[in-house]
Amino acid sequence: MKSQNNVQMDRILFDNYKNKIYSPEEAAKFIKNNSIVGVSGFTKAGDSKSVLPAFAKRAETEDVKITLLSGASLGYDTDADLAKNNAIYKRMPFQADPTLRKSINSGNVLYVDQHLSETAEMMHNEHLPKVDMAIIEAVYVDPNGYIIPTTSVGNSANFAALADEIIIEINVSLPVSFKGIHDVFIPNSYPNRNIIGITNPQTRIGTEYIKIDPEKVIAVVFTNRPDSPAQISAPDENTTAIAQHILKFLEKEVDDGRLTKSLLPIQVGIGKIANAVLSGFVNSPFENLTMYSEVLQDSTFELFDAGKMVFASASSITVSESCYRNLIGNFENYKDKIVLRPQNISNAAEVIRRLGIIAINTAIEFDIYGNVNSTHLGGTHMMNGIGGSGDFARSAYLSIFVCPSASKNNNISHVVPMVSHHDHTEHDVDILVTEQGLADLRGLAPKERSRVIIENCIHPDFKEQMEAYVEEAQKRGGQTPHIMEKAFSWHLNLKNNGSMKNLVAASDVHREMSVAI
Ligand code: COA
Repeated sequence: MKSQNNVQMDRILFDNYKNKIYSPEEAAKFIKNNSIVGVSGFTKAGDSKSVLPAFAKRAETEDVKITLLSGASLGYDTDADLAKNNAIYKRMPFQADPTLRKSINSGNVLYVDQHLSETAEMMHNEHLPKVDMAIIEAVYVDPNGYIIPTTSVGNSANFAALADEIIIEINVSLPVSFKGIHDVFIPNSYPNRNIIGITNPQTRIGTEYIKIDPEKVIAVVFTNRPDSPAQISAPDENTTAIAQHILKFLEKEVDDGRLTKSLLPIQVGIGKIANAVLSGFVNSPFENLTMYSEVLQDSTFELFDAGKMVFASASSITVSESCYRNLIGNFENYKDKIVLRPQNISNAAEVIRRLGIIAINTAIEFDIYGNVNSTHLGGTHMMNGIGGSGDFARSAYLSIFVCPSASKNNNISHVVPMVSHHDHTEHDVDILVTEQGLADLRGLAPKERSRVIIENCIHPDFKEQMEAYVEEAQKRGGQTPHIMEKAFSWHLNLKNNGSMKNLVAASDVHREMSVAI
């Protein structure tokens, strides 16, 4: 039986790193105050599990702050601990942590909410300041000193290429057989940009490792902690109904000859609804499905096990504890069915358009013309961020957004006169779905859209109220009729009276809007 020390040293196949081994606390001291740090991690997968948490701890007693870039959200409570200890000056491009969310909304942390494909582009174009340090989780280091990533690729390869210094965090909880599931490709900089030659989800265009300059490595740290698990909710009445509407719609597309039974590659966003919707494909007539997405969730592996899915490409694997255990325990069953890519490749507009992706993402709310808000509550407060939803929605073959028609005892309607924040405009949205039904907006003008959305998606409690709004708006005319002084009256009513129902008189709304402005 090998000692823990030998198990660890077997993971460093490049001798020059062997005298750079530090504890997480020692390595965290290398992070300079006010520096820009790029970390691995994408929707809780493959994140720094010891150095960044040790830096958060350091900030309990020391006045240190960083600008923190990642792939997407981090696991455990790392973002929360950093926020609690005032260790973040600015955060980008995505987060999904309640404590950090509070710090962002209270103004303690600056947040740049970015399309997930764009961070790497902006770094290479020097539209963002230079990254000082990269902290990258690895399964092991190969004989050239290159990194074999873990459960995500995210922005890791780009951080490692551009940072001055690199800390490698080797996670011995993952098998070395992870080598082979990654496909790392960094496009050339402008004006010599090359084609991203992915012609189907299986295409490989890069390397199985992240190539780095070994001279930049200042520390190697060991950790032995699995990814923090995704919280999965069992399908409920609403999510099942949403899934059924989508499946029925896609079946009709097959019947009409626009799609075959294997559809086109699917992208599914984060959130409990999106995961439940994909699970719904298990009992569908579709077969030989593929994914070209950014996150592989439990539902992906359910579809593999059901023999419905043949291949899935993404940037990370974010699954529940039981799914994680099954994946690691039976890795050889899945290894040749998955590939993980940098997020500017998994979310590249060029590839999404070429492959013809069916993109299914979750909205916070949408309006009667098909504009979607994915990020803000009440127009001002950040929920998580746009993530990759915009990358996919704009270039997809079919851009589908889902959400429940109402929530909080039906006091909140998720179908509103005008969205309080625009993430996806009417131009990027083809299909809207709630548990009430599906609105197919393809080829419809705004006035036709409002009719179809009200007919199919709105909760019955809000139907009359919305019809009255549209009728009054249409009397005023215009391509996209609105009553501007009432467009946010539903949101204001929710804020002031706890419900979007039973609107206060227009004159009161008017007065409140001028106060708010
Ligand atoms: N005012 C106040 N609260 C509102 C609201 C409004 N106008 N509209 C919605 N809400 C509340 C809901 O009632 C619900 O509250 P609850 O959590 O207390 O029940 C909450 O906002 C919705 O969030 P949640 O239930 O957590 O939904 P979800 O897990 O389905 O996630 C998104 C939905 C939109 C937050 C999530 O999908 C997301 O962050 N998307 C953006 C990123 C993305 O799409 N990435 C895709 C590529 S991976």
